Amino acid sequence: MANLITPPRWRLTERDVTPESVFWNRREFLRQMGFAGVGLAGVAAGGRALAQVTNAPATGGAAVRNPQFNDPKLRLSDSEVVLHYNNFYEFSTRKEQVHRLVDKFQITPWQIEVGGLCEKPLKADVRELIAEFPPEDRVYRFRCVEAWSMIVPWTGFPLAKLLAKVQPKSEAKFVKFTTAEKRDQMPGIARLREYPWPYTEGLRLDEAMHDLTLVTTGIYGKPLPKQMGAPLRLVVPWKYGYKSIKSVVKIELVATQPATLWETLAPDEYPFESNVDPRVPHPRWSQATERLVDTGDRVPTLPYNGYGEFVAKLYGKG
Ligand code: MTE
Repeated sequence: MANLITPPRWRLTERDVTPESVFWNRREFLRQMGFAGVGLAGVAAGGRALAQVTNAPATGGAAVRNPQFNDPKLRLSDSEVVLHYNNFYEFSTRKEQVHRLVDKFQITPWQIEVGGLCEKPLKADVRELIAEFPPEDRVYRFRCVEAWSMIVPWTGFPLAKLLAKVQPKSEAKFVKFTTAEKRDQMPGIARLREYPWPYTEGLRLDEAMHDLTLVTTGIYGKPLPKQMGAPLRLVVPWKYGYKSIKSVVKIELVATQPATLWETLAPDEYPFESNVDPRVPHPRWSQATERLVDTGDRVPTLPYNGYGEFVAKLYGKG
């Protein structure tokens, strides 16, 4: 995506490893999520309810790993690299800089609106949603359109559960997602004046209802860090990474295909469907292989990013 405005950056130019505590500061997360006064005793006493809210049970462990998405052949990417190499243009187009620019980004309180063509629209704080839909861990491959990839354990719940709660009407055919637009806290927005902010994305309703489509609140067994889309993002593992929209505030059921930020900017390069497909090159580069973000190894890209057995039928294939 950086290629829209600057030459491609294929390699990690800087492996700036910052101490894990900076990103995984649990106390800071609790403060951000509104549990400032809870303290460690409160965490212990709070038991399950608090555990669900933070994604990190009082025992210190992670949410339960879903065995269906725990392929022992997949080697997890190094978290130090993953957490510091981010596409989040609202902050910066420089992947290695994003994590340095998120301090002012406020994620408490965080209201999410789910509405549009549905019977029971809702507005809820993210904490209520997490408490209502207990998270699970899933190891997914993640493939960016820029031909880098990673393998990470996300924590979250299927979007289908949330959509079922609001009861889509029969006219609803697509789902539109919108990221927060906090210009005073997101320094990248003003620098990309020509972009149609806020960041928006979309899926067909059947794609959104697919069990693989995950509302994500954590990674590596911990709450999502801000640079990765806290407090809540989408992960759609068979599509290029730009569909996995971060820091979502609105989810709308709509009748027609919604405009998305990247498709509006460059429809030939970042089309709406954007299923991972090694046979279809990007107009400016091949998609046949991908670079693992931590080791730099180049490996073949798989159709549907390896999830064809689950999703090919959505497209009349398989
Ligand atoms: N969501 C928002 N709001 N803004 C962005 O710039 N970048 C997308 C996606 N979601 C982006 C976004 C792209 S291009 C990718 S590859 C992934 O986030 C990167 O996710 P990561 O930084 O957690 O690896």
